[in-house]
Amino acid sequence: MKICRVVFNKKEYEAQEGENAGAFLRERGLAGFVCGGHGKCGKCRVICRGALSAPTDREKAVLTKDELLSGVRLACQTYISGDCEFISEDQGKAEIKADGNMPDIELLPIFDNYGVAVDIGTTTVALRLYGRDGALLAEQSCLNPQRAYGGDVVSRMEASLKGEKDALASSIRRLLCDMIRAASDIAGVSADKIDGAVIAGNTVMLSFLSGVDTEPLTHAPFTANSLFGQTATAESLGLDILCPQTPVYLPRCVSAFVGADITCAVISSQIYKNEKNAVLTDIGTNGETVLKYGNALYACSTAAGPAFEGAGISMGMGGSVSAVDKVRVLPDGSLDVHVIGGAEPAGICGSGIVDAVAALLDTGAIDETGYMEDEPAVIAPPVVLTQADIRAVQLAKSAIHAGIKTLLSHAALTCSDIDRFYIAGGFGSYLDVMNAGKIGLIPKELTGCVKVLGNASLSGASALLLSSPLLKESESIASAIQTAELASNPVFAEEYMNNMTFDV
Ligand code: FES
Repeated sequence: MKICRVVFNKKEYEAQEGENAGAFLRERGLAGFVCGGHGKCGKCRVICRGALSAPTDREKAVLTKDELLSGVRLACQTYISGDCEFISEDQGKAEIKADGNMPDIELLPIFDNYGVAVDIGTTTVALRLYGRDGALLAEQSCLNPQRAYGGDVVSRMEASLKGEKDALASSIRRLLCDMIRAASDIAGVSADKIDGAVIAGNTVMLSFLSGVDTEPLTHAPFTANSLFGQTATAESLGLDILCPQTPVYLPRCVSAFVGADITCAVISSQIYKNEKNAVLTDIGTNGETVLKYGNALYACSTAAGPAFEGAGISMGMGGSVSAVDKVRVLPDGSLDVHVIGGAEPAGICGSGIVDAVAALLDTGAIDETGYMEDEPAVIAPPVVLTQADIRAVQLAKSAIHAGIKTLLSHAALTCSDIDRFYIAGGFGSYLDVMNAGKIGLIPKELTGCVKVLGNASLSGASALLLSSPLLKESESIASAIQTAELASNPVFAEEYMNNMTFDV
């Protein structure tokens, strides 16, 4: 019998595979088994994640879809099938919400029964399962296993050149199959009923998924073998959990380094319909910015690194239970933190990193050069930020900031010409915009017109899935976006150097 590692309210235990979660948790203090474990009273609610049995019909009758999406289960109806984590509701409701910022769309799905929308990020992969009526049935988010081959697209392309092309493809294909299976289980849908999918991602991520050689992307003139904007079959993409002929639409990329994730973010923000001048920045491992000026759309991409996705930071983690997601300075100079799920802190996610750096600037723990006299800086024990973490943040924030400024300069605009600034990325709605301005992640002058979109690539992919006319529209938009080259741009080089420090 397999022994599983089970964390309950941050304490670690061992359980046997197949053990009932209710019986296990009751012995360790979970209360509320009013109906004696018959799945009727709903009082044994617990927030879960990890390897567990699929929700039963009783749970689907008692719990709302939102609760199931947030990881709430009835302990008495749940069985442990591997390593997992539980948090009792009194330790905090799940605060990881479905990150929905969908544009207004005409509901004309590209599928008949069920469809999945996916965003393959360099660091994080997110998926949504929808019904024919446009209802969101389940959502999944996982780290991209291709990180084992390198943290950024350049190192992964190098790995591909060294013979890991097939391994890169199979690792993402396996993950997508697992995520589709998990989402199907939550929704109580058989995966073979899924008859349509849209998978967004940057040009490199879509190339790895579909087995397209990325070698031309590794040297000048940096061209892509495919910019996609085409429908493949599940079989050709190795998604063997789906029926072989299931159509999978891969949205059109803008260029070699401005991918379909940006096309989808543009669809999600609807920046192209906005008559005003607007900027859209997607803060991910690549920091991509789109500028809408008059009828024109310009885009650029910078290699920011994954610091704001909680990767490449000593105690960084995604925005999940036990991540510090907010930090503020109290009047006595000490730090007050918020931890997702009300749990004990175990790491820090992107929005927490932005807040923490702003707080350390406020308290003088780091100076304008980013130098930290007393290392590491304690945020909330055991969570700390090291000098190397601060340096990683400086590189990332400067690259993103410089990309925005360079694109504005490309169109001979300044921040004061911009009416709306959309921020997309894994921060969800948790990014403190003023702190983002304070640390120089975004220009301070733009903080007054920010709209935070969350995972706009996933929302855009969802919009394409649910509204077939958007497929052609997105292809036209992607081909119309003009790309600004940054690598050889002196404005970018100057802005990058200027923004490396902090404004205190
Ligand atoms: S004990 Fe009543 S639903 Fe679980």
